[in-house]
Amino acid sequence: MAIARRVVHHLKRNLIVPTVPVACLPALDMARVVERGRCAYDGYQRGSALAHGTLAEEVWNDPLFRKALAVARLPQVRTMCTEPRLMNLFLLTKFFLKDLASQNVIEYGTYRGGGALFMAALLKELYPGAKVWALDTFEGMPEVDARVDLPPPDDFAATNLDTIRFTAAGLGLDNVTFVKGLIQDTAQTVYAEAGSFGLAHIDVVLHSAVKYAQDSVWEVMAPGGYLVYDDATEPTCPGATRAVEEMIEGRGLSIEQVWPQVVMRAKLASLD
Ligand SMILES: C[S@@+](CC[C@H](N)C(=O)[O-])C[C@H]1O[C@@H](n2cnc3c(N)ncnc32)[C@H](O)[C@@H]1O
Repeated sequence: MAIARRVVHHLKRNLIVPTVPVACLPALDMARVVERGRCAYDGYQRGSALAHGTLAEEVWNDPLFRKALAVARLPQVRTMCTEPRLMNLFLLTKFFLKDLASQNVIEYGTYRGGGALFMAALLKELYPGAKVWALDTFEGMPEVDARVDLPPPDDFAATNLDTIRFTAAGLGLDNVTFVKGLIQDTAQTVYAEAGSFGLAHIDVVLHSAVKYAQDSVWEVMAPGGYLVYDDATEPTCPGATRAVEEMIEGRGLSIEQVWPQVVMRAKLASLD
């Protein structure tokens, strides 16, 4: 029985051509209110439907998701982001970013580039005026603080910025800018150029970098903007978890979504 189910799942996953865009998210039996700087309804609507409902299958059958996924998984730029996390980024971009004053995206930690190109492919179609800024050393991980971080499982040196830029150009993704260097040295110039962001994808693993990203981006986030953390619930990234705890303590916030990524909101006062 289990084998039959797996075969059906595999056939559905690989043989059905994606043709049906996701139209909406399922409603929850919960009040949709803002409390402690977040809207739990929105977060649990995304997470619970991806984990337990049919939403993951619907997203898989969405032509835009599959187009962006194909970009993200090109071998030379292949993203480390898992499929559920890419699905969540897709839902945030398609259904939630539209309500904000800015649809620009900033990614802290780009590595081979696939996640940034995934977001660029989505923005290109959904918000043609918006841009992605993708920040990384593109030379590997900086020094680890052994008091709060574990040594990362990879040195992240196997990346090539020329290859990433060449791939973006070949795909016609002229809405993404790659910025090389420590984020602590490059971010302020990016903020001045971009003005504001609707979504910050924080994927820099280490405590110092996650903390710098969340603290420095705060002022340039659109009200209600999304802070999306890829590492905060990873067993290998205690420093990223600590940084999120500091965000909660320091700003009196709660987490909007815990799975597949930690999502928090910047400056969210109401749902207007
Ligand atoms: C987990 S990877 C990013 C994965 C990527 N988002 C993807 O889609 O596959 C983490 C990256 O953060 C970068 N990084 C960590 N600390 C940094 C810092 N202070 N400045 C710039 N890049 C940093 C590393 O070089 C590494 O490439």
